[in-house]
Amino acid sequence: MVEETPWQQALRYANRADPYPFYKELRKTPVSRQPDGSYVVSTYREIVSLLHDTRISSDPTKCPQLASMMEGSGEPAVESEFMVPDIISSDPPEHDRYRRLMTRHFYGPSDAPDWISRLEPEIRRIVDDLLDGLRGKTRIDVVDDFAYPLPVTLICEVLGVPREYEARFHTWIESALDSFDLGPEASSEEAESRKKEGDESYREFQRLVSGLIDRYAEEPGPGMLSAMVHDDSPDGPMPKSALVSNAMLLLFAGHETTVNLIAHSVLTLLRHPDALEKLRRRPELIVPGVEELLRYESSVQFWFTRSALEDIEIAGTTIPKGAPVFLAYGAANRDPQRFTDPDEVDLERPDNQHLGYSQGVHFCFGAPLARLEVQIAVDEFVRRVENPRLVADPPPYRRNQVFRGPRHLLVDIGGIRG
Ligand code: HEM
Repeated sequence: MVEETPWQQALRYANRADPYPFYKELRKTPVSRQPDGSYVVSTYREIVSLLHDTRISSDPTKCPQLASMMEGSGEPAVESEFMVPDIISSDPPEHDRYRRLMTRHFYGPSDAPDWISRLEPEIRRIVDDLLDGLRGKTRIDVVDDFAYPLPVTLICEVLGVPREYEARFHTWIESALDSFDLGPEASSEEAESRKKEGDESYREFQRLVSGLIDRYAEEPGPGMLSAMVHDDSPDGPMPKSALVSNAMLLLFAGHETTVNLIAHSVLTLLRHPDALEKLRRRPELIVPGVEELLRYESSVQFWFTRSALEDIEIAGTTIPKGAPVFLAYGAANRDPQRFTDPDEVDLERPDNQHLGYSQGVHFCFGAPLARLEVQIAVDEFVRRVENPRLVADPPPYRRNQVFRGPRHLLVDIGGIRG
């Protein structure tokens, strides 16, 4: 039997709760070639350098190997009848034009540049209601009862997605994400059947988003999607196919990443009682604290659509033209060459420029919203939940390797304050 590489081991579902020993092995070879010809980059310095290198593409259609790997892994093909790559899967100049068009509406009109910070009272109200709803319970699921409803309510509101669509989105997104597998288990029978289900869910999801966009084309409504449909800037409007894929990207991004960060933050604090106590005593540490919690457990472990447009010489290795390139943010955020004692949680860590939101042209544009949501959610959880204790450690994890997070997080509690 051929021995698996540290990367293949890190991708195994059994290691989802703790991929870090494999990342440590992986970092010994900063740029490592995998048996299938792809390259994994696991050290901070090398990832940052490639994030700013125009010889790296994010468009999987420019890399036949990547396109077929994604096809075989549960990631639906981007080129169905009306799909074009979304911004995260495209390169400048198309990327920049569409990103400008999207951020224009996401950050609010130019006469209201503080639009995201003005969401704060609404976020506080949702968090308060969620915690009030837990009164009388002695055991909660931090994922379903607390982490999930906040980002989803907000992203639907920001985009203008009617609330009644949410339950269907939720099922489809979970099923599509569960079916995505780039690891050694991808060809198992079980994975094949998850892939079939995931593809179907993805198509249903696509149809619904497409229908919603048609609705807004006929009659403008509230939120970012309708504003994008009727955009009259020099960059706009986007063709329908791009609107559909980018709307789906926003719904995916707005659902999973923030949910996983809230759940991981609670898990990490309960595993580190000193840090939890410190945050209780000094709530002002919530801002740097959430950055540290994201460094420590990255919601996006790596990205999977990049490839080399030319031969690239880096860290003593040549990545050949055409090879898929995986940038392992989760490994880089624990790189001891960049972070002192990277396996420690230090809520006051100086110079904490982690890669949790990436860098360069694809830097997460939802970061200001995600930061605000998670800061308020974790701050209120720490302040109001009495005597929280983990029921199972590690908790069960979601299958997805990119968007890593607990599927459930059962916690026994003494009550809800305030
Ligand atoms: C804790 C929460 C979040 C984390 C950790 C996160 C992380 C990331 C990362 C790592 C990337 C870059 C991927 C790459 O190309 O390598 C990214 C891109 C992106 N994120 Fe987020 N994200 C979060 C929340 C959000 C939210 C709430 C939204 C939308 C409302 C969002 C929208 C986007 C978009 C549109 C991109 C693509 C940007 C581009 O390609 O130019 N994200 N995010």
